[in-house]
Amino acid sequence: MSHDTAVTLARGTVRTLSQQEELPLLRDHLLRLDRASRHDRFHGYMDDSFIERYAEKCANDGTTIIGYFEDGVVRGAAELHPPEHSAGSQPEIAFSVETPVRRKGVGSILFKKLIAEARAKGYRSLRITTGAQNEAMRALASKFGAHLTFGHGESTGSIDLAPQRQPELAPSAVATTLDAARAIVNFNRAYWRMLLRMYGWGRTA
Ligand SMILES: CC(C)(COP(=O)(O)OP(=O)(O)OC[C@H]1O[C@@H](n2cnc3c(N)ncnc32)[C@H](O)[C@@H]1OP(=O)(O)O)[C@@H](O)C(=O)NCCC(=O)NCCS
Repeated sequence: MSHDTAVTLARGTVRTLSQQEELPLLRDHLLRLDRASRHDRFHGYMDDSFIERYAEKCANDGTTIIGYFEDGVVRGAAELHPPEHSAGSQPEIAFSVETPVRRKGVGSILFKKLIAEARAKGYRSLRITTGAQNEAMRALASKFGAHLTFGHGESTGSIDLAPQRQPELAPSAVATTLDAARAIVNFNRAYWRMLLRMYGWGRTA
């Protein structure tokens, strides 16, 4: 288990996965996502072999994975991808919650935990990209201060982690502090570059 504190919920637990050993749990979680969820999560349908390579990449590139566990199985995940080395690059974030446990606050709990983790790492802002039609993710991101703009079938926005201007959130069972503020909107292609590299269409990671 990671050094961070696990948060126990009524049904499950939220904690960071250890980088190498527990990454198969992320892979298995992503493989359980149905077609529509994979489409939403990866901005297009992605096959099993893609997901297997994607999870392996996360295990080796410094991505932090926060998992929602039920009975030792990861049913939801928040991903915090380190920024690329180029100037102005931001850490990218992504979320996935399996259908049977959706709309119960799991995504929100993962988001809070991810923001606490990002702040602990000293990140000042986070980038999120999702499909323009993805109402669930847009609702979740908006709840945490992301102002999304549309372009090329996507919604993109950033979340400012500066400590001031903290919006009031609905009470939660999680004691994680959230400082999310307005977004600076600036289309970022880093996430797409990463996905394209997974397919071998871009430069090697
Ligand atoms: C997006 C996703 C992670 C949300 O997970 P979740 O556990 O259902 O989220 P929560 O229960 O915490 O809901 C968060 C907010 O979004 C809203 N929401 C959730 N699903 C929604 C939907 N389908 N339509 C509209 N609003 C929705 C909730 O009402 C909630 O707002 P509230 O707290 O004001 O009530 C989940 O739907 C998912 O995994 N989708 C597939 C993968 C994906 O699209 N990933 C995003 C790409 S990065």
